[in-house]
Amino acid sequence: MTNHRFPLHSILIIFTVVITCGVSVAQIAGGASAASLARTPVMGWNSWNKFGCDVSDKLIREIADVVVSSGMQAAGYQYVNIDDCWQVSRAADGTIVADAERFPNGIKALADYVHSKGLKLGIYTDAGRMTCQKRPGSYEHEFQDAKTYASWGIDYVKIDWCYAEGLDPIVQYAKFHDALAQSGRPIVFSICNWGVKAPWRWGPTTGNLWRTTGDINDTYDRMSVIGFSQNGLEKFAGPGHWNDPDMLEVGNGGMNRDEYRTHMALWAILAAPLLAGNDLRTMTAETKELLTNAEVIAVDQDAKGVQGHRLWDEGPLEIWVKPLADGSHAVGLFNRTEASLKMTRDTKLIGVPPSAKLRDLLDHKDLGTIKDSYNTEVPEHGVVMLRVSE
Ligand code: GAL
Repeated sequence: MTNHRFPLHSILIIFTVVITCGVSVAQIAGGASAASLARTPVMGWNSWNKFGCDVSDKLIREIADVVVSSGMQAAGYQYVNIDDCWQVSRAADGTIVADAERFPNGIKALADYVHSKGLKLGIYTDAGRMTCQKRPGSYEHEFQDAKTYASWGIDYVKIDWCYAEGLDPIVQYAKFHDALAQSGRPIVFSICNWGVKAPWRWGPTTGNLWRTTGDINDTYDRMSVIGFSQNGLEKFAGPGHWNDPDMLEVGNGGMNRDEYRTHMALWAILAAPLLAGNDLRTMTAETKELLTNAEVIAVDQDAKGVQGHRLWDEGPLEIWVKPLADGSHAVGLFNRTEASLKMTRDTKLIGVPPSAKLRDLLDHKDLGTIKDSYNTEVPEHGVVMLRVSE
């Protein structure tokens, strides 16, 4: 993609595919650890993308504070999730032990603090023998750990898949399903086995979300490879059970404004979990505006709960659509090339009446009623995200 060259300025794209409005969503029976959880994709923050192992009580409290003061909470962000490295050992009775230097007050006190802000606390473990950073895993401690988390007031657990040689993810994650169900506390269950053994097939009856790929990083190439590869998985997602293309990198500095807009718009169209992964304490106004863009978030969180799909593509030009509860559609016009590109959409051919109303969601602009076709310029690596309604 990076070296792609064509006579871009002159390309006119005519959409030739009919929008399939009622994308079939598998009505997969509940059965997740707490079927009432994650009715819309989870929103929150996670420590890993920015901080790696550098987690602490202080950091998590400061992040919780800024989730509230920045307006992120009001925008829908709710979970504050500690990723790998909070744990150091097991006590003689097998109870998992938090790093006492980094979490001197213990996890329960931290949960109480996060709850006092009206937020929820998430934690991380691994279904194998060790976490990816070689901390104790939960293998053969599934029930004990679920009980411990519940006693601390944990609301969300991400369960990784390192050091799981010889284990079957379907068997191991089902154990956690049962363990969390018996823990006495509603806990969102995030399966993180990077797509091994197609978790979209068994994830819906096991957890609330499941990673579909290996890790994201803060580059356009990686983000776009992951995001645009999600097509076809939409039938496995729905309220309570979501595909997870990994956490957001918005604001971490490796992508430019248009690339982060693509990241956010694509994740919203994918009905992906929106877990910010940047340092919220120091984010720029531009980052905050994008992360809290109410019209984009509304697409992600739409009550219909349908994951969008690719409607059309021609090489690096892609159009994705997500049907929304009010009968309108969110449409993303994506340009994966390295030059800005003019796109024309022919309303007749995409199944909307010639008088469809368009709204630009990223820039909050009514574009009026379009007549027959719509022309726009999509920046390199960028997106134009629209709401199309009758
Ligand atoms: C990976 C996981 C990442 C992060 C990391 C921590 O396996 O995909 O999201 O949790 O482990 O070590």
